[in-house]
Amino acid sequence: MINFAIIGPGKIARKFAEDLRFVPGAQLFAVASNTLARAQEFAQQFNCPHAFGSYEQMLDFPGIDVVYIATPHVFHYPHTMMCLRKGHHVLCEKPFSMHPDQTREMIALAREKNLFLMEALWTLFHPVYNKALELARSGAIGQVHSAKADFSFFAPYNAQSRLFSPQLGGGALLDIGIYPLLFFQDLFGIARPDDIQAAATLTRDGVDETCVFTIRYSDRQLALGHCSIAADTPVEATIYGSEGEIHLHSRFHHPQQLTIRHYLHQGIETVEMPYEGWGYQFEAAHVVQCLERGQTESNRIPHAFTQGLSEALQVILDKIGVRYA
Ligand SMILES: NC(=O)c1ccc[n+]([C@@H]2O[C@H](COP(=O)([O-])OP(=O)(O)OC[C@H]3O[C@@H](n4cnc5c(N)ncnc54)[C@H](OP(=O)(O)O)[C@@H]3O)[C@@H](O)[C@H]2O)c1
Repeated sequence: MINFAIIGPGKIARKFAEDLRFVPGAQLFAVASNTLARAQEFAQQFNCPHAFGSYEQMLDFPGIDVVYIATPHVFHYPHTMMCLRKGHHVLCEKPFSMHPDQTREMIALAREKNLFLMEALWTLFHPVYNKALELARSGAIGQVHSAKADFSFFAPYNAQSRLFSPQLGGGALLDIGIYPLLFFQDLFGIARPDDIQAAATLTRDGVDETCVFTIRYSDRQLALGHCSIAADTPVEATIYGSEGEIHLHSRFHHPQQLTIRHYLHQGIETVEMPYEGWGYQFEAAHVVQCLERGQTESNRIPHAFTQGLSEALQVILDKIGVRYA
């Protein structure tokens, strides 16, 4: 049994904890909150034997195999460093950190301590998403030349919410724009993109409300990304090839369905792969597999992937003029 511990029992932690029941060989073992009552309530709800009112206290408790960090963006760096220093393997929510230099430090410490460290990019473990990539790579739509993706939702302004707070890493790009970006990086390669252009409208507090970006990869492949916290869009993605296109249905970052449209014979094929729960079980199962094999790095999300993503995010933030403390 791999014993998961959670830091930050908030919205995403709840979904993750719920989905752990679908992962053979995994169990929720401990949870820590800044508030003991919140940890206890969470532990009770998810049948978790150990609850702590301090992150550090939990990390000193024996029996934890891996810590899932589910706090807001700005805490990913300090919390990951704290876990690694205390000798724990880590699964850290996205975005991995607030700056590529932090990402580099986190990876370096994990390597120095010989510990497992992975960014929790659940999309990359979804069966339909991977099917789309497999089809694109196998030539099912000819030569792939471009892709577009969008992830947006309408959020009413709330200065207290982490979505709008510059101190908590607010803005559309880091929260949801990261999904189009990781999709493009996965499709076209980790190698540094040739060119990134971006534009955004900012909120009154100076974080991005709506952001669009274009990326040129290896001179011949183009990507168009859009994200916004001011619009309710379908959250879909399309891969374009010389002979057709692959459409990832909503929501593309954890899809259950894709459609291939062939230009020449106008054929349409659909692939459906429904799953139970929220869909976090796939990444959790991957972590279990990595730990059982003694790996310190995932082959699906190698450290270089996370570093590349972190650097691309920073290029976009610099271009749109969003700066975090
Ligand atoms: N993979 C995905 O699909 C997905 C989806 C949503 C979010 N996320 C990522 O998960 C992370 C958490 O998102 P969330 O929506 O779950 O966050 P959240 O519910 O707002 O907060 C999670 C926990 O972080 C701590 N926290 C929140 N605000 C804090 C503050 N101002 N100061 C100190 N601690 C604070 C709290 O833990 P305590 O109880 O210990 O105080 C809270 O329970 C984000 O980085 C986000 O990008 C990922």
